[in-house]
This record gives sequence, C-alpha cells and structure tokens, in this order.
Amino acid sequence: MVEKTTPILQARNLHLDIRSENGTLPILRDISFDLHPGEALGIVGESGSGKTVACLSLLRLLPSPPALYRSGSVLFRGEDLWQASEKALQKVRGRRVAMIFQEALSALNPVLKAGEQAAEALTLHSGKTRREAQREVLELFARVGIPDPERRFQQYPHQLSGGLQQRVMIAMALACRPEILIADEPTTALDVTIQVQILELLKNLQRESGMSMIFISHDLGVIAEVCQRVLVMYAGQIVESASIEQIFASPQHPYTRLLLQTIPGLDKPRGALSPIPGQIPSPGALPPGCPFHPRCPEAAERCRLDPPPPLSLPSGQEVRCWMRE
Ligand SMILES: Nc1ncnc2c1ncn2[C@@H]1O[C@H](COP(=O)(O)OP(=O)(O)O)[C@@H](O)[C@H]1O
Ligand SMILES: [Mg+2]
Repeated sequence: MVEKTTPILQARNLHLDIRSENGTLPILRDISFDLHPGEALGIVGESGSGKTVACLSLLRLLPSPPALYRSGSVLFRGEDLWQASEKALQKVRGRRVAMIFQEALSALNPVLKAGEQAAEALTLHSGKTRREAQREVLELFARVGIPDPERRFQQYPHQLSGGLQQRVMIAMALACRPEILIADEPTTALDVTIQVQILELLKNLQRESGMSMIFISHDLGVIAEVCQRVLVMYAGQIVESASIEQIFASPQHPYTRLLLQTIPGLDKPRGALSPIPGQIPSPGALPPGCPFHPRCPEAAERCRLDPPPPLSLPSGQEVRCWMRE
C-alpha cells in the first residue's frame, strides 16, 4: 500500500482546450489527482479519452496555441508548473520529470547512434564529461537489460528491434534520475512477450529507484501489473479513481465495469473480446449531461440532463456517476 505522504505532484481542476478548424475543443475538463512519492499511478481509458494530452499538459508540453491552458494548477513539489516560466520548466522537463512514449523509434534521433544520444542527454542535463557519460550509458544499457551494451552503443536506432529501442528510451529517461517517470503506452507497439519483459523492467526500476510513475495504457490488465492506483478517463474527465484492488473488487463507474470486461485473460483470448459498444464522443460533440450516458447500461433521465460532479465514497474511491449517489 502507498503511504499517505505529501504528494509529489498535485493536479488541480485542469481545463485545457485545443483550437482546431472545428472550433475550440474542450479536451481536459476538470482533471484533478495526486501522485505520491514512490507511487505508480495508472491512467486508463479508450483511445481519444485524453490520456496523452493530460500527461503532456502537466509539463506544458503542448504548444499554446493551439492548446489553451484555461485554468487549474499543477503543483510539483509546491511549484505551479502551469504558472512557471519556460526557463523554469526546462529545468524540470527530462531531468526531474522524464517521459517515454509508445513510438520509441520516432522519439529517437535517427542519425545519432543509440549510445551517443543517450550520452548527449547526460552531458546536456548533468554537465558530465563525454567519457563519464559514455561509461554511465553503458551501465544504464546493462541495467535496462540491453545485451552486449558496447555493440548496441554503436548502432543506430533503426538497427535495433522495437524492444531494444524502447529499452534505449527507458535508459535515456532514467539517465538523469528523474523523480517522476511518465510512461505513455510504452508497450502498446510491442509483441506480447517483449511487452511482458518491458513491464517487468519498468516495475523493477520504479521500485528500486523509489521514483514515482504515471503509467498510461488502454488495457487495465497491463495497469494492474505495474500500478497501485488507477484513474479512469472518459471524454476528458476522470470518471473513477481507485486502488487496483478496488477497481477489480468493486468498480463503481459503469464505464469501468465495461472496461474490465475487455481485459484479455486465459478464458478470453484477445480475438474473442468485444469492445465496449458505441463510440467515445468527439470533444466537439459532447452530449449533454453525463458524457457516457449514450453508452451507459444504467443511464437514467438525470444522466441525460445534468453532468455528474465527482463523488467521494466512504471506501476512498471517487466516481462521477449519478447512480452512485
Ligand atoms: N492537436 C490537436 N488538435 C485537435 N484535437 C486534438 C489534438 N491533440 C489531441 N486532440 C484530441 O484530444 C482528444 C484526446 O486525445 P489524446 O490525449 O491523444 O487521447 P488518448 O491518449 O487517450 O488516446 C482526442 O479527441 C483528440 O482527437
Ligand atoms: Mg495517447
């Protein structure tokens, strides 16, 4: 269990719009959560629910415009990153808060050897000499399970397998010993066996180093492997927040319950799974009331009219659903 400590990161009532040809779209709508020291927090939701935008927005990584940071605060060790100067943010990005992405190859520089770009990240952020950085990169490569690090150091990203590319990205993210690692679907593009290895690696690295982690996936089963707590996102909102035990034992939001049924398992191989009927609404065409009501098996009249506020349950779970009042 995660102790109740002072959160390392507190997101409060984040509202973010994106300007597009279709008008100004509300993408994040009142996002609030805490991340505690040493905690692995999952974010789950179907594609398009706002997971990536939520994470990028923490470090104000979406350019403005088109992004409009409307209101809210992101307190990182007490400093509000939504109010911080660009200069102050640069000291946080990649150093104290690092990110890894689904597409390792597109995040890596194609014309730099794997080892060189990792060493460059180190010299840039920590002021180490080239020689020191190279030695440290070889150690990091070994630590993230890259076999024959000396050989891999000299190879270009396209010469590496998807799994090795992701390991290089993880090594680069860890190079500056970040306090928070944000991992956005880091295994989605990988084969199942490699996926299991990378999840195991991330879990071990996070526990050994004591860093906090935000781990995004559309698969609750994957989140359960790595995280202690989870936020369920739908249409730019957090609709449920709970511990992993609670989410499996007593899911509260009807959307969470349907998501649980999409987890592959021994009795349900991937091909046999049916996705949740209907589609996530586009941010330009949100229905009135609860955004989930058109797909919700429990929807009542009130759900079609009024948007539900977040409700704190005695169990500690939070849920946006009129039916749990
Ligand atoms: N640059 C952009 N312009 C317009 N809409 C965007 C832009 N980036 C993201 N969106 C929209 O924001 C919503 C959330 O996207 P995203 O955070 O990528 O979802 P997820 O990561 O959960 O799949 C989607 O509806 C997406 O179309
Ligand atoms: Mg995404």
